[in-house]
Amino acid sequence: MAVFISKSREQTEMFACEYAKSLRAGDVVLLDGEMGAGKTVFAKGVARGLGIVEEVTSPTYAYMNDYDGRLFHYDCYRIESVGQAERLGLSDYFYMGGICLVEWAQNIAPLLPAKVKRVVIKKCNETDREIEYGE
Ligand SMILES: Nc1ncnc2c1ncn2[C@@H]1O[C@H](COP(=O)(O)OP(=O)(O)O)[C@@H](O)[C@H]1O
Ligand SMILES: [Mg+2]
Repeated sequence: MAVFISKSREQTEMFACEYAKSLRAGDVVLLDGEMGAGKTVFAKGVARGLGIVEEVTSPTYAYMNDYDGRLFHYDCYRIESVGQAERLGLSDYFYMGGICLVEWAQNIAPLLPAKVKRVVIKKCNETDREIEYGE
């Protein structure tokens, strides 16, 4: 795992925009970190890096937002059970050839593919974030 220190929301977004270039079709990236760490900010940067112009918003209530089948952005914070996620067909999108970004993946752990990438964002203070990334 490598580490990037971000000093602002803009730096996180820019870093994610660059990171997006390392991603390949079908990659599933788990975005870990506490509430407010910057997972959704990171997702916005990835979307920009992929050339998605549509605004990325938190999928907290919809569980997953689909950007043209190219990016699937999950937020599983409010998933109540693995069964619920299964019934919603949330795991189908892991295999559709788009890039998947998954917030709160621990709530759907049994549904995740065997091979995933990870980004862990640690909140150091109001503005600083330690971003660990790698396989
Ligand atoms: N270095 C930073 N990187 C990312 N976000 C930051 C940073 N510093 C402050 N913030 C703020 O932290 C919040 C992160 O929110 P969000 O991305 O929605 O968190 P999460 O999705 O992890 O719950 C935003 O309000 C953002 O402006
Ligand atoms: Mg979020």
